Amino acid sequence: MKTLMRKKNDAGRPERIFPAAIALAAVLALAMTPPQARDRSAANAVWSDFIAWFRTAAADSNPLAGYAAKLSREGVAEEEAARRIALIVRLFSERPEGAEVYYDRVFSRPLTGRPEQGYPTEPSPFVVETVKGLRPGAALDVGMGQGRNAVYLAGLGWDVTGFDVSGAALDAARANADKASVSIKTEKASYDTFDFGTARWDLIVIIFAWAPVSDPSFVERIRTSLRPGGRILFEHFVDKPDQPHAPMVRALNPDALWGYFAGFRIESYEEADGIGDRGGPGERLVRMVAQKR
Ligand SMILES: C[S@@+](CC[C@H](N)C(=O)[O-])C[C@H]1O[C@@H](n2cnc3c(N)ncnc32)[C@H](O)[C@@H]1O
Repeated sequence: MKTLMRKKNDAGRPERIFPAAIALAAVLALAMTPPQARDRSAANAVWSDFIAWFRTAAADSNPLAGYAAKLSREGVAEEEAARRIALIVRLFSERPEGAEVYYDRVFSRPLTGRPEQGYPTEPSPFVVETVKGLRPGAALDVGMGQGRNAVYLAGLGWDVTGFDVSGAALDAARANADKASVSIKTEKASYDTFDFGTARWDLIVIIFAWAPVSDPSFVERIRTSLRPGGRILFEHFVDKPDQPHAPMVRALNPDALWGYFAGFRIESYEEADGIGDRGGPGERLVRMVAQKR
């Protein structure tokens, strides 16, 4: 307190010098803050503004175009707006909160299952085909969305757990399980927070799930969590050179999965044109079944 009170005012009471002290402290703190921390705090400010806007933006709008229009309305210069959008695109891949808000919007709407809307309500035909003849055991559905694959597997007698970063997705998954009179376990978690465990699963399905499979530590976590002989079912987008997906989708380069899953026995691998989970024709897709040795 002594350092914050110095001279006396006219009434003879010590005068607070709080504002000046705080301003000085702020200047000193800024000067002493390493540039990386300053960058981080500027990045956090850009991200927070985007997420606050995104939570209330129209559900069918393109988020990045909509946010760019908002910045323009606020008078942000074009170059600065482009810098912020590039930063948001990068942070979207690093911070699960972006996917959470995005998919909360997707799965809060009633889904019709019609191809033009995207997000089919039927299980992936790849999953249906691949599990034919497999003996049901413990299955994990990562990035489970509305639970179309989890519910299907539970109907075949698998003991299914699913997780997703989106609360609205999990609400939809539980409602779909109730409708189908099957039981599934669900958990709200992201790829970095979910505890995959050790030798726990006979099957892990990763279907259009934005999973970080290019990260060797993620692949090692899922490998460890499989029982010997357990399988990964993977289906996702492959980037076309002239039409790359946004980085947060984590679409793959052609043939990249071979390297990411080099420690597995690849039972089947296919890259082909098909219809992805967002509807519409002409997507390049990869489908892989990998077995833990
Ligand atoms: C396109 S949907 C696919 C859902 C489901 N696998 C299917 O085939 O219907 C992608 C899902 O991945 C989830 N997701 C994206 N990023 C995630 C993350 N970092 N952690 C957990 N889930 C994530 C989303 O919330 C969304 O539900």
